[in-house]
Amino acid sequence: MYIKKIYLKNFRNYSEAEIFLSEKLNVFYGNNAQGKTNILEGIFLGAIGKSFKPVSEKEMIKLGEKFSDIELEYFSGGRDMTTKMRLFTEKKKTVSINNVALSRMSELVGKLTVVVFTPEELSLVKEGPGARRRFLDMAISQVRPRYMHLLSSYNKALEQKNKLLKNEKMKNSVNDTLPIWNEQLAQFGAKVILYRKNFADKIVKKAAEIHEEISGGTEKLTAKYHGSLQDTENMTEEEVKAALFEEMTRQAEREIFLSQAVVGPHRDDLVFFINGNNAKIYASQGQQRTIVLSLKLSQKELFLEETEEEPVLLLDDITGELDLSRREYLFSKIKNSQVFITCTDTDRIENTEETRYFKIVNGEVIR
Ligand SMILES: Nc1ncnc2c1ncn2[C@@H]1O[C@H](COP(=O)(O)OP(=O)(O)O)[C@@H](O)[C@H]1O
Ligand SMILES: [Mg+2]
Repeated sequence: MYIKKIYLKNFRNYSEAEIFLSEKLNVFYGNNAQGKTNILEGIFLGAIGKSFKPVSEKEMIKLGEKFSDIELEYFSGGRDMTTKMRLFTEKKKTVSINNVALSRMSELVGKLTVVVFTPEELSLVKEGPGARRRFLDMAISQVRPRYMHLLSSYNKALEQKNKLLKNEKMKNSVNDTLPIWNEQLAQFGAKVILYRKNFADKIVKKAAEIHEEISGGTEKLTAKYHGSLQDTENMTEEEVKAALFEEMTRQAEREIFLSQAVVGPHRDDLVFFINGNNAKIYASQGQQRTIVLSLKLSQKELFLEETEEEPVLLLDDITGELDLSRREYLFSKIKNSQVFITCTDTDRIENTEETRYFKIVNGEVIR
């Protein structure tokens, strides 16, 4: 699959931009703070309905404006498609595909799959667990639209439970109402955990092969999904649900004391190991980046298997983050994909007939 055209209006620092793309390599270059990353963010948003950064929709609308348009024309599933999205300052965004309005965001995902490499994500291993959950959630959502819907149901129930735990007036009746919310959270939570574990197993298995290749056979990558429940190995969904509910009941007093829900997949993590040692603690920065590079390439492979099409790749400022050998490895593996790269100088970018360059100056695209 590939994107033919991007149209942005009042998006970030762009008043209006129309960009006609190469099916292969697209390079956005220019000085810092000109709007290069913003374009990748616009593509990601148009494909998935969310930014790859933890920001609100409002922040993405050009300062002083009331709405923002993001339109993508692309070729996917053997046909031409158009996604139109409008963000508003005061209400929820609207989205249409081929001029048919969508009622849920989960109807958007999967049409245009994207894998993004950002400098922030290259430090995924050493960041807090939230970053790793986001990585898993975004990746799963793209190939399992039902997961996106499930996750939002879980988050809504979680928000309600937290509201209840924070509300002083409700404290007296909390023992009656808490089990009702726990029941629902355990039900959604069990599904979330199983989706994540299943996906983590698949993506890590492939990533381990890639990591081994990059490290010249010296490093073995493994990972463990780490959560509220000690061991969910071989458990059915019903069993995970029952175990979650039991743990919530056991921790109820603590949750009431802390005024927040502490049991459930919103606290889970994916822990990486190199040769059996916790990578967050023992791996060098280079090794940690190799883990993320391997994960991302593995994600690309999984998407290809799932959709039978190469996902679009967004590479944000990676020249400074990956050394030459890792960059060469990366480029050797993504030859069949449409690629978007941002950089400050184009010296180190492979120039082919199909490469298209765009100079970005203060929210304007110059060809
Ligand atoms: N909502 C917004 N409205 C207007 N300008 C914005 C908005 N959000 C970010 N910017 C501007 O976008 C620029 C950063 O763009 P970015 O794509 O990150 O730059 P870079 O070229 O370094 O990747 C900054 O100048 C910032 O002030
Ligand atoms: Mg940038």
